[in-house]
Amino acid sequence: MNKVLVIGSGGRCDAICMKLKESEKIDFLFAAPGNPGMARYAILVPIAVDDVDGLVNFALKEKIDLTIVGPEASLALGIVDEFNKHGLKIFGPTKKATMVESSKAYAKDIMKKYNIPTASYEVFSDYDSAINYVKSNNTYPLVLKYDGLALGKGVVIVNNFEEAKVTLNDMLVAHEFGKSSVVIEEYLVGKEFSFMCFVNKENVYKMIPAQDHKRAFDNDLGPNTGGMGAYTRLKFLTNEDINYSYEEIMVKMAKALVKENNPFTGILYGGLMKTKDGIKVIEFNARFGDPETEVVLPCLKSDLYQAIIDILNDKEPELIWDNRPTLGVVLASKGYPKTYQKNFEIFIPPFENGYVFHMGTKINDDKLYTNGGRVLMVVNQGYTLEEAKDLTYDMVDSIECANLFYRKDIGKDSL
Ligand code: AMP
Ligand code: GLY
Repeated sequence: MNKVLVIGSGGRCDAICMKLKESEKIDFLFAAPGNPGMARYAILVPIAVDDVDGLVNFALKEKIDLTIVGPEASLALGIVDEFNKHGLKIFGPTKKATMVESSKAYAKDIMKKYNIPTASYEVFSDYDSAINYVKSNNTYPLVLKYDGLALGKGVVIVNNFEEAKVTLNDMLVAHEFGKSSVVIEEYLVGKEFSFMCFVNKENVYKMIPAQDHKRAFDNDLGPNTGGMGAYTRLKFLTNEDINYSYEEIMVKMAKALVKENNPFTGILYGGLMKTKDGIKVIEFNARFGDPETEVVLPCLKSDLYQAIIDILNDKEPELIWDNRPTLGVVLASKGYPKTYQKNFEIFIPPFENGYVFHMGTKINDDKLYTNGGRVLMVVNQGYTLEEAKDLTYDMVDSIECANLFYRKDIGKDSL
């Protein structure tokens, strides 16, 4: 009997559960803590993603055969190390390998050492040297990155010396996010895309690339968010670009981590940019991306569970991809990413095809309510991106809720 546990409660884990449920090899699928979307496919277990002991005890008691980790919070706490200690099979990086995401300076130093293309940079831990560097560099915009997890607020692009001073003061004197250093980085220009790969030590297997839309409003205006939509089949990426990103970035990084005695297992996410000087790394993440996973996994035609088991057993997995463009739109609470209200009822009609993934919802008396900043992600596929877009927005238009907004231009870079 095969039992699988997915850790997480957002849209990406809803997509992971949806895909796992297609596998005939899983007898019981659990999600901790899960959400109402995941309840369609999994048995929900009320254990928080940061309750590592609680999750270990549950996995031991239920004799879970495979655990898949969604959020970086669990990884950064060392959940994989703890599961491994107890002989429990888990797919994700150790606490030390999670540093590719949790420490910008660590990731940049490895990229420099192994010639992986990225923006040039310097690391500073004291305010005076950072200020002297910014003064002598005197080029704007300039990118300042806090060297640690900062809830998505650790990257600030400054346009002049005054702005740099304020941000460096926040990060290095007031310690807004904690006591850590700052990476000061060259500002790159180009189109961004996300390239996720399944990794086990040197073995790297690619997924299809996707593009995220990070700003809150149409035409990339407004504040940064966790992502307002995503799509596959990017018009600006050639096969050559994808092969280059695979060989020169993702495989090189996986091999570099093995050489550094810090082998990576799990999903390595390359946040990449196509610049006029070639493709460069903006960041690495140590997990499935959100909202990219919600458009990438619907394109996987082969068995996700079997692929992960094979990868963990050093066997070549079967990964078959549906090439049809896939597009997803996030429905967010009005006001997000700033303050917003919750508890608005949502009506979702039955759909013949496509997906409605839950990001921030809850159930009360059998009714569905908003329960977060990003609430739902609606996804559909077409034979062209235009068709995928029309089908998705038709679904979006028929969902009723008094307090949701969404971007109307998802996919714009490739239409
Ligand atoms: P990160 O948290 O590293 O993903 O950074 C957040 C966003 O800041 C990225 O998605 C980019 O849009 C932007 N960004 C980060 N680093 C750079 C850079 N070196 N040049 C231009 N934009 C950047
Ligand atoms: N889509 C960006 C992320 O998952 O970090």
